[in-house]
Amino acid sequence: MVDVGQITKLAEKEIKRSVSLDVLSKLEIKYLGRNGEINKLLSAIKNIPDEQKKTYGQRVNKLKASMYRYIETRKKELQNKKSGVFFDKTLPGKTYPKGSLHIVSFAIEEITKVFEKIGFIRVSYPEVDWEYGAFESLNMPVNHPARDDVETSFIDTPAHPKLGKMVLTPHTSNGQNREMKRVGKPPIRMINISKCYRPNWDATHTPMFHQFEGLCVDKDISIVNLKGTLDYFAEKYFGVGTKTRLRPHHFQFTEPSFEVDISCNNCGGTGIIKANRCKVCKSGWLELGGTGMVHPNVLREGGIDPSASSGWAFGFGIERVIMMKYGLDDIRNYYSGDIRFLEQF
Ligand code: PHE
Repeated sequence: MVDVGQITKLAEKEIKRSVSLDVLSKLEIKYLGRNGEINKLLSAIKNIPDEQKKTYGQRVNKLKASMYRYIETRKKELQNKKSGVFFDKTLPGKTYPKGSLHIVSFAIEEITKVFEKIGFIRVSYPEVDWEYGAFESLNMPVNHPARDDVETSFIDTPAHPKLGKMVLTPHTSNGQNREMKRVGKPPIRMINISKCYRPNWDATHTPMFHQFEGLCVDKDISIVNLKGTLDYFAEKYFGVGTKTRLRPHHFQFTEPSFEVDISCNNCGGTGIIKANRCKVCKSGWLELGGTGMVHPNVLREGGIDPSASSGWAFGFGIERVIMMKYGLDDIRNYYSGDIRFLEQF
């Protein structure tokens, strides 16, 4: 019987040693031509005993496939030699695309600077907390319907006897009680930046996102201070001339409560561009997030006497302010890892 293994070895050796494209094309004919070795092997199958036909056929086909590979590889080598291409070890390596700060990290840095300038202290409180931090300490007792407003992810672990179940924080407001207890006595000027979790996934929501929470507690703090701080932030972060407005709202942990809007920079706050409705805002205003004067129960829970001090708080989404600043329409791009998107910032 013909020894396929032997022919494979021989062919490989011959092909590797071929010195020119001419020699190689002769070898191609010798092995793969109509009357070549491979076809000879294939037609010899009729002399093979039936029970060996299958294995034999497979081996010859395998040889044929490797033959194509050997020839192609050698062809390329010889062509390169001919055109003078050679491997130069001294050439510098390929450069890979350079990374940069992620837009969220960049925004965190920017926002921190804006608030540090007016005496706020950056903190980062846990993104996994007890229900106490996320709700009870914020005037949202167990079973309070307001807890449904933020859908919360619970951690599958035994509950704390006093502090309740473990949760992925749905907002950065859990930092309020912790900061009051950390500082002990007003004045407090906190900017808490952390990850938050809510089970939503669409163009404007990702299940993990970031918020920055401002908290200011001192003697005689009023809405005037709050509005002044919001105006300052809006101009510094979104650009000179950006205005803010407060709309009445409800949060359990603030009284009164508001939603803050900023004027749209795309249309200059008019809602109209060249007689058409502004596509970015539709009304001249864009919603920033929630705010209000800290509820006396929240101050008390943090060990602060509400008759001696007052305060305000706000909580805004980082992904959201980035969207508003750059006019982006799909937040999911932030976490796609697509470098073409990320390198624009
Ligand atoms: N925690 C609120 C939210 O996530 C925002 C907020 C913070 C409102 C502080 C008022 C005061 O929607």
